[in-house]
Amino acid sequence: MRVLGIETSCDETAVAVVEDGHKVLSNVLSSQHEIHGRFGGVVPELASRAHLERLNPLVEDALAEAGTRWSEIEGVAVTRGPGLAGALLVGLAGAKAVALALDLPLIAVNHLEGHIYANFLEHGPPDPPYVVLLVSGGHTMLVHMPEEHRYEILGQTVDDAAGEAFDKVARFLGLGYPGGPAVDLLARRGNPEAVRFPRAMAGSGDFDFSLSGLKTAVIRHVKAERAAGREPSVEDLAASFQEAVVDVQVQKTVAAAEATGVGTVLMGGGVVANSRLRERMALEAEARGLRLLSPSPELCTDNAAMIAAAGHFRLVRGGRSSFDVSVEPGLPLG
Ligand code: KG4
Ligand code: ZN
Repeated sequence: MRVLGIETSCDETAVAVVEDGHKVLSNVLSSQHEIHGRFGGVVPELASRAHLERLNPLVEDALAEAGTRWSEIEGVAVTRGPGLAGALLVGLAGAKAVALALDLPLIAVNHLEGHIYANFLEHGPPDPPYVVLLVSGGHTMLVHMPEEHRYEILGQTVDDAAGEAFDKVARFLGLGYPGGPAVDLLARRGNPEAVRFPRAMAGSGDFDFSLSGLKTAVIRHVKAERAAGREPSVEDLAASFQEAVVDVQVQKTVAAAEATGVGTVLMGGGVVANSRLRERMALEAEARGLRLLSPSPELCTDNAAMIAAAGHFRLVRGGRSSFDVSVEPGLPLG
């Protein structure tokens, strides 16, 4: 069964064709980083306009690249939230048009569920239960999934999301937008122990996170150093900041698996592209005998293959959406 996936929740216009929920036949994407970069963050109005211009050609590209005719598509999956209202609208309207014209089932997908189901693309459906670390530009949470499609939020950030912290620190350091990849790259040449930044809520005994204090600590450190006539190494700052984020995430994820008695850990979201998070989590999972799954880096950041996969696993259970479905910018998980 081939499902067409459409994702326009933020600043990537993405379309994919996925077979049987795991075989990626095509996964095309047009990123708007060049549009939003000079503003240091996503400008919603510009995002919608770019989605509108790019969606139709990308749909054609995705089908061509997949070597798939319209008659071979059996469902249309699209992100309905969370995300930017105007951006989501473009994808949802496009998906409805296709589904209506071709009499195909429409499956409106939660973007966060997409990030989780990105894991199913390469590994196939793992046996539940799992604990999921979901870390993106807008979300940072730990989720217990006793079975597929059931989500129990164990904890989440009380302020900034992890990706947001990467982006804000990167902006302060003059590294451009989005900041995560730039920090990741620089950190490889830095010393993660150069500056001991705070590990907020590390000992809080719950599964919540706090990241805004860390961002402030980085800014304060740089200002203090400069005031003392020293220019801190940006590589060391990147590595030390990243280590503080990763430390808490690894510790809390492992604790969540232990508290719920779950043997499988999944990771999802753009921040899971981070090389240090992947490395540290792999070591910790191995030491504790946990099975760890994560999508390959290019499937961690926003894409439509993950939406097609999530849609597929809804569709096979009879889940389809009515044509009245609307976008939901604040859609929660579950
Ligand atoms: O999942 P995603 O593509 O979009 C949202 O749903 O938010 O996540 C984007 C976020 C951005 O904040 C970006 O800086 C971060 O993921 N990111 C990274 C890396 N690659 C992307 N953060 C840390 N290290 C990376 N390598
Ligand atoms: Zn995302």
